[in-house]
Amino acid sequence: MADAEPGSEFDIVVLGAGSGGYACALRAAQLGLTVALVEKKKLGGTCLHEGCIPTKALLHAAEVAETARHAADVGIQASFDGVDMPSVNRYRQGVVDRLYKGLTGLIGSADAITVIEGEGRLIDAHTVEVDGTRHTGRHVVLATGSVPRTLGVEIGGRVVTSEQALTLDEVPQRVVVIGGSVIGVEFASVWNSLGAEVTIVEALDRLVPLEDPVLSKGLERAFRKRKIAFRTGVKFTGVEQDDSGARVSLEDGTQLDADLVLVAVGRGPNSGGMGFEDAGLSLERGWVPTDERLHTNLDGVYAVGDLVPGLQLAHRGFAHGIFVAEDIAGLNPAPVVDSGIPRVTYCEPELASVGLTEQQAREQYGEVETVEYNLGGNGKSQILQTAGLVKLVRQADGPIVGVHMIGARMGEQVGEASLLVNWEAYPDDVAPLIHAHPTQNESLGEAALALAGKPLHSHA
Ligand code: NAI
Repeated sequence: MADAEPGSEFDIVVLGAGSGGYACALRAAQLGLTVALVEKKKLGGTCLHEGCIPTKALLHAAEVAETARHAADVGIQASFDGVDMPSVNRYRQGVVDRLYKGLTGLIGSADAITVIEGEGRLIDAHTVEVDGTRHTGRHVVLATGSVPRTLGVEIGGRVVTSEQALTLDEVPQRVVVIGGSVIGVEFASVWNSLGAEVTIVEALDRLVPLEDPVLSKGLERAFRKRKIAFRTGVKFTGVEQDDSGARVSLEDGTQLDADLVLVAVGRGPNSGGMGFEDAGLSLERGWVPTDERLHTNLDGVYAVGDLVPGLQLAHRGFAHGIFVAEDIAGLNPAPVVDSGIPRVTYCEPELASVGLTEQQAREQYGEVETVEYNLGGNGKSQILQTAGLVKLVRQADGPIVGVHMIGARMGEQVGEASLLVNWEAYPDDVAPLIHAHPTQNESLGEAALALAGKPLHSHA
């Protein structure tokens, strides 16, 4: 145990035990630091209880529904007889509960971590108050995460955010999803597979507008085939509901009727009502700005995860938390850079990317080279009956700076993609590396071969 400064009970007081906060606490404990981990709900935060884990469980249930529906395509006799939503929910909750138990055990077995249940309030740069008791630390780490934005739409009844959408006890017949980015397309994918009629409304001109346009194009094609309707380039202007249904009005005058409306227009910082400003913390539209070492303007106070402007991803939170613990322990870790963080969207087909889009690479490097390897030439993808591609972007005569993939299960390929970009691999470095056959992983190898000027299963 490290010595606390006079008057400090702990080395670190962490406010919020989601991905960023608990990762910080665990790493700090490993490094011999004492931690107070303050949480008002449950250890694990949004990712475990209302985000990544339960949504991916629903997506898996959706995949099983599709497999049953299309079993005859591969000569297997099976039938899709419907969805028992209470059972789907039990499965989903079972996954969450097991992981929660594991996490609770892990944190419980770290002697250096004291979990403090309750709502924390930042008093000053060294003090967090919980239910009238003040806890002090040499450092405070703010890890309070994010909450759904609603753009003034009242949530309740038939109008939900991703939080309520997770726990529906039946499959809605008609759904309008407002927002065609990550949350929007994942839920659209789930509900379509479970039998709902889905329409997505996206203000920008394409689905998943943050991704390279080649992925938007591929996803739109796949969604059209799946009969998921989408309206792009149009904003909603209002949402109304009564006992019989809901109605979404669009700025072009269209009205869309629905039984359920999902508002998925982004997540904002969870920074209100916790004394941040009174304690002297600078906020920018609610976000907590930091330098690259995640220091806030208050000496000794760090911020991690979704609270810090940038990608809102659980694995960024883990990386931030670990970084801060190591920084406090004096290990001088390398900062976490957003452009190197892999991104996966788990709709069907999956999207996976890391690094720069082609356009971003052009803006940054001027000349770039790209290659698109079509999964039509990839044996395993054909076995899985999925369409898609791998696009590599390299700086002209330089390293690979972006990887963009679409296809069933392609999210699992993001690991190698991430190594390629973060280790600044050249296509010629990758070309001689052997990728196992037949795997979808080969498509990355094939794309690198093509970019190195020696394509195998694709045209030069
Ligand atoms: P987002 O910020 O990615 O996208 C919001 C979308 O709503 C944008 O495309 C925007 O153009 C659209 N929009 C905004 N105002 C609109 C309007 N008036 N009418 C129609 N469309 C409008 O937010 P999203 O999808 O809600 O996700 C929130 C965060 O959670 C993101 O940062 C996302 O990366 C993260 N997340 C990550 C997942 C993953 O990694 N698989 C899964 C789910 C969420």
